[in-house]
Amino acid sequence: MPIAYPDPPLTDGAIALRPWSMQDVPEAVRCCNEEQIRRFILPLPIPYTQDDAIAFIGAAQQRLDDGSVTLVIGDAADAALRGSIGLRKIAPGIAQTGYWVAPEARGRGLAGKALVLVSRWALATLPLIRLQLFTDVDNPASMRVAERAGFAREGTLRNWYDLRGERRDAVMYSLLPGDRP
Ligand SMILES: CC(C)(COP(=O)(O)OP(=O)(O)OC[C@H]1O[C@@H](n2cnc3c(N)ncnc32)[C@H](O)[C@@H]1OP(=O)(O)O)[C@@H](O)C(=O)NCCC(=O)NCCS
Repeated sequence: MPIAYPDPPLTDGAIALRPWSMQDVPEAVRCCNEEQIRRFILPLPIPYTQDDAIAFIGAAQQRLDDGSVTLVIGDAADAALRGSIGLRKIAPGIAQTGYWVAPEARGRGLAGKALVLVSRWALATLPLIRLQLFTDVDNPASMRVAERAGFAREGTLRNWYDLRGERRDAVMYSLLPGDRP
């Protein structure tokens, strides 16, 4: 089912989530070539080029039509890019979220703030019975983000996913409509 951008836009006074714009291409290229983002954000080409960023941003409407949404985690004061958060439908009633934060903006709780905003919006406005995310077993920062946003840790899924040719274990988290992000 197609979805629309959150309206009004999601903000908590510190961050404001907004659609990607072609003006974000240089920052997308810079961030998506950073080591940790490369390591843990699965579908990113290596190296991540300007053409990759243009194609990604240009496909925003198609993603909405397909039931997915990707938002810039922007600074609430000046809209500067601090990260990215997305959500995509993976089965009827089930969506999966993922996020990254620019290296110099880490450690300030921005991913958690964004995850709370997106989770509340998604569970309140989309026909979801489950919002899930998984992290690599070697990604404790992302586990903290999920836990602080109220996601329940469900367990370790062995050999769950392919991380650039290597089969990896993952930790699965979920948030249900009755939970409190
Ligand atoms: C994971 C990521 C999104 C976290 O973003 P962030 O805005 O820096 O998150 P926070 O500031 O809320 O910090 C997360 C928590 O992890 C903790 N943390 C950071 N690095 C850690 C580490 N190596 N080991 C344990 N905890 C760590 C922080 O202290 C913080 O804990 P707290 O909430 O108890 O203070 C960011 O590091 C990132 O973009 N990583 C690369 C991409 C990625 O892994 N995305 C997630 C894929 S599932």
